[in-house]
Amino acid sequence: MKIEVIDLKKRFQEEKRELLYSIKRVISKGNLVLTQEVESFEKKICKYVGSKYCLGLNSGTDALMMSLWASGISKGDEVITTPISFIASASSIIHVGAKPVFVDVKEDLNIDPDKIESAITKKTKAIMPVHWTGRMCEMEKIKKIANKYKLILIEDAAQGMGSYYKKKHAGTFGDISAFSTHPLKNLNALGDGGFIITNNKRYYEKIKLYRNHGLKSRDNVEVVGVNSRLDSLQAEVLSFRLKRLKKIISRRNSNINLYKKLLNLKQIKIIETKKNFTDSHVMFITLCNKRDRLQKFLARKSIQSLVYYKTPLHLHKALKFLKYKKGDFPVAERLTKNVLSFPHHQHLTQKEIIKVAENIKNFYKNENTI
Ligand SMILES: Cc1ncc(COP(=O)(O)O)c(C=O)c1O
Repeated sequence: MKIEVIDLKKRFQEEKRELLYSIKRVISKGNLVLTQEVESFEKKICKYVGSKYCLGLNSGTDALMMSLWASGISKGDEVITTPISFIASASSIIHVGAKPVFVDVKEDLNIDPDKIESAITKKTKAIMPVHWTGRMCEMEKIKKIANKYKLILIEDAAQGMGSYYKKKHAGTFGDISAFSTHPLKNLNALGDGGFIITNNKRYYEKIKLYRNHGLKSRDNVEVVGVNSRLDSLQAEVLSFRLKRLKKIISRRNSNINLYKKLLNLKQIKIIETKKNFTDSHVMFITLCNKRDRLQKFLARKSIQSLVYYKTPLHLHKALKFLKYKKGDFPVAERLTKNVLSFPHHQHLTQKEIIKVAENIKNFYKNENTI
């Protein structure tokens, strides 16, 4: 049997009875757009993370774009972010007409706060840190810089559900923050979804209009908006899964602790969780010697592993116009050569983890004797 990085089929088996009941209940009501289910989910998120407002949207990408749009970022502006992320972190900035300005990362794969100030120019309007793999950025330092230069702080918390720094949830440091509920996230829908959180009423009211074609009422278009509504069915699924989130993260953490015990190897670096940080471990990314050979070896043993990602954002063809080149962000470029994510989902058994670890050890043993 193949051991997968994330196993959504097993998840469905575990929750099938109750989940299908909830879905049936919503469908039977016959109204599936912007219903009480969406409002109820938003309220639950506010309570969970500790924010005043939440709005359900149709993806994390839209949540980022809406955050930028609502905070007035547009043509000619610069937004500081990280080269280690999913393309949406940069493309959302480009879609509102602004320019992403990258700042190198630290050894933990997150933006290096000590390098942010030197990237600030007259055009800088915002900082967008990304909590990569569910490990939070050093938000106190970043917030201090944002305050000093009067910059808007937008957290890309797409991977941050269940992550904390000093007991404050991801997304609650920023002026406005974006989350994804893509199927591969800890809190996941049965398809695409996302939301924003904020304490700023003005941002909240703007995005509430933007997400539904700017409609103040059925026949009253106040601004030109888009359709970025979270479906009622997805909202119901997310409310159902939110109740189980703490348990899921705790199971994933136990898995990772077992890996740490078994993989005490000089060829693999497991990034430590620092004091005062709670990592939600959306992905279990390690830094491995001979990464590509290890990945192929594991695949031959029916063990899936994934690379998030081989290419740092500044080296993508689509971003060539930003005029970055190889060598601009040496830490990010070095780390992306070694990143590898192993299976770590909540349905993994101890036996499976031991099998993965044994195979990794065998790989390095053989490599060293060749
Ligand atoms: C860091 C980051 N930002 C933004 C996104 C975009 O979210 P979505 O796929 O829900 O549009 C993702 C999704 O993978 C992500 O990982």
